[in-house]
Amino acid sequence: MARIAIPAETAANETRVAATPETVKKYIALGCDVVVQRGAGDGARFTDAAFEAAGASLADDFAGAALAADVVLKVQPLNKDEMNLVGQGTVVASLHAPFTNPLLADYNTQGLTSFCMEMIPRTSRAQSMDVLSSQANIAGYKAVLLALEHYQKFMPMLMTAAGTVQSAKVLIMGAGVAGLQAIATARRLGAMVEAFDVRAAAKEQVESLGAKFVEVPQDDEADAEDAAGYAKEMSDEYKQKQAELIAEHAAKADIIITTALIPGRAAPVLVTEETVTTMKQGAVIVDMAVEAGGNCPLSKKDEVYTKDGITFVGVSNIPATLATDASALYAKNMLNFMGLMLDKESGELNIDREDDIIQGALLCMGGEFLKPDLLKGDA
Ligand code: NAI
Repeated sequence: MARIAIPAETAANETRVAATPETVKKYIALGCDVVVQRGAGDGARFTDAAFEAAGASLADDFAGAALAADVVLKVQPLNKDEMNLVGQGTVVASLHAPFTNPLLADYNTQGLTSFCMEMIPRTSRAQSMDVLSSQANIAGYKAVLLALEHYQKFMPMLMTAAGTVQSAKVLIMGAGVAGLQAIATARRLGAMVEAFDVRAAAKEQVESLGAKFVEVPQDDEADAEDAAGYAKEMSDEYKQKQAELIAEHAAKADIIITTALIPGRAAPVLVTEETVTTMKQGAVIVDMAVEAGGNCPLSKKDEVYTKDGITFVGVSNIPATLATDASALYAKNMLNFMGLMLDKESGELNIDREDDIIQGALLCMGGEFLKPDLLKGDA
């Protein structure tokens, strides 16, 4: 019977939790024991009592939860102190920030078996385990609400006795999971929406949500996407054409939401300082790529400020601002993933290294680091 620990998150601004009372019940039904650190669910509004009612026992601190655990489930990567408290051979599953985490190799030197949730392959079988999608979906929705909080006008067109209010023009850059949800949310609120993406495949999805796709003319469209469906770094010629088009559309926008990311690299600069000078008074830029350096050089991580009439919103970890649903979806993703390894009869752990999902996410096991490219910084 595997013993699963759910510690409280300690990273700044992290309000999520890796299990909910609902998923705890499922782990217990699978034959596992679950220990939840007291207060672990507070930020996401899941009480200790709810975890207890689901069948978990409670521990006072991280050590109490993790010391005798076979499996530790977390949202954020372990910090050094936490790593020292987890016994050799323990399975840890969490986000790992694999391209920037300085402690990545330490999981192996500590003798842990570690699963990086960001590296679960994005195949249809793994869709229910895809934390990048579940959290990006939330972030895209919330980014529109963050923009509205700082935008001093209505979003929809309104005809009132006191005059007509024009609908807001929203420009979304990057139409992946977050961008598409931002488009849908802004459309529901009555905005006129335009979107950019380097991947030609995004065009149809953008248009199906009632937004206009702004196309950058290019010779070889297939080149924009890698084998995993992610965007690649674009040519200088493409960037030049795109910059001109962005400048033209940004000048008319009331709200810009940027989501453009290239895995393992700095986010591309899309809204330049020069472009910002052409924007309307009262415009708002929400930079969802701020943790990866930002799509606008003027956005600052974890800061919201207004300069020359333009408001820059650089909130990082947006999913944590909608902690209940973000946790519920993350916890479900985690349960589905762990379901690949937990024997349905005995609740024992059985790691099938031939399984492509397990292989994709497995960072280290038995003293072997299995994703050496990440350590070289050229993954
Ligand atoms: P992401 O978070 O890595 O990037 C966000 C968006 O920014 C992407 O659409 C990307 O094309 C775009 N972008 C990058 N550089 C840009 C630039 N210079 N200008 C404009 N846009 C730029 O992407 P996300 O949301 O994680 O999705 C990545 C891919 O994975 C997509 O093709 C998506 O359809 C696919 N996907 C597949 C799933 C599955 O099959 N289970 C699940 C979720 C996503």
